[in-house]
Amino acid sequence: MLAGITGCSNSAGGGKAGAAPNQSNPTPSLPTRNLGPLQVTALGFGAMNVVPGYYGPGVSRADAITLIRQVFDSGVRFIDTAQVYGPFLSEEYVGEATAPFRNEVVIASKFGFNLTPGADVTGTGGLDSRRETMISSVDASLKRLRTDRIDLLYQHRVDPKVPIEDVAGTVQDLIKQGKVGHFGLSQAGEATIRRAHKVLPVAAVQNEYSYWTRDPEIEVLAVCEELGIGFVPWSPLGMGYLTGKSTTPIEELDPKKDLRASAKFPRWTKEAIAANRPLVDVLARVGERRGATPGQVSLAWLLHKKPFIVPIPGTSKIDHMKENTAAINLKLTDSDIQELESEFKRLGVTGKNAPPDFLTSHDIGSYIGSNSRGTHGNSPLPSR
Ligand SMILES: NC(=O)c1ccc[n+]([C@@H]2O[C@H](COP(=O)([O-])OP(=O)(O)OC[C@H]3O[C@@H](n4cnc5c(N)ncnc54)[C@H](OP(=O)(O)O)[C@@H]3O)[C@@H](O)[C@H]2O)c1
Repeated sequence: MLAGITGCSNSAGGGKAGAAPNQSNPTPSLPTRNLGPLQVTALGFGAMNVVPGYYGPGVSRADAITLIRQVFDSGVRFIDTAQVYGPFLSEEYVGEATAPFRNEVVIASKFGFNLTPGADVTGTGGLDSRRETMISSVDASLKRLRTDRIDLLYQHRVDPKVPIEDVAGTVQDLIKQGKVGHFGLSQAGEATIRRAHKVLPVAAVQNEYSYWTRDPEIEVLAVCEELGIGFVPWSPLGMGYLTGKSTTPIEELDPKKDLRASAKFPRWTKEAIAANRPLVDVLARVGERRGATPGQVSLAWLLHKKPFIVPIPGTSKIDHMKENTAAINLKLTDSDIQELESEFKRLGVTGKNAPPDFLTSHDIGSYIGSNSRGTHGNSPLPSR
């Protein structure tokens, strides 16, 4: 088991760049949870931040591989990547890093964007879940991941041009061919989840969810619970804001290297960063009582919400990864949870979680308090 809230005692530590994990002293894996029929460690690792363009310049290939191997050494056995991260680079790093222990980790990846050079990947314009694109995309991902199967394959964004039943059917064929283990949806709404699940059981839904982004509480968590689907929150640390350490506003970030700046994420303006600080103060206050950081409280809060929730914090730094992984040991009390919830209600959030052109590609009630119609409103919810 892991020890200590602030760090992990069982990391192989140090290690030269790209060193393979310590096979003579294998690290016990973290406790597990189920995403539908798929068993994974209760915390995963998001491999998006090692590549440039999201939250800064990323890291070198050697450092990314060292980091991912340390993730394994820290007991995490669930790694999240996507074709679009880089594009392609993140899958390459994950493939090289996990090759020595491929059968001991669950790898999740995603398809769904048109990645031909110059294609726009924002809004719904860049979405592409046509059968032929899916098939070629999966074949290419398998090569980069150096594996014969993707354990969990998500549709990255619901494509309003392709019925979700067709997408599920194509994934079913890929499962029959042994190229894919399980089916997932990302940023999907209730109606879409229900329709997909009728054709092929969905193992996991990966939507944005964190202390300051509550949309899944409107209906997606309930449908996952009802249908036995796991839920994987992306940006569980609020893109770093909820750690209390990421405070650089978009006005000062380099738009060439940082998506929050280039796409003008509303919660990352100078004004919103200052206005939302009391939310971090609540996390810090609860954390102080438990010897934990605000980021660890954010992750423990998610783990406490439902037993089928598996957060995938992302980082480019080994010490941050260890801090995040150690959150598995933090148990919040009922009064901690009550305080977190009542303070969130009282304080509210300044700014939407994403800019308008990103929100149009979210097949959910992306606007707090709204309903999900699924498939961008083209798929009415069944009457209740
Ligand atoms: N399905 C989707 O559409 C979708 C969308 C976005 C992300 N994802 C997946 O979800 C994963 C996580 O989401 P995310 O990366 O957007 O957001 P996140 O995990 O909420 O936060 C990542 C940010 O927090 C910082 N950070 C992480 N741990 C920290 C710590 N202990 N102390 C201080 N700062 C810390 C990172 O910077 P440092 O590198 O400096 O630590 C990075 O800037 C991604 O890696 C990706 O796999 C999926």
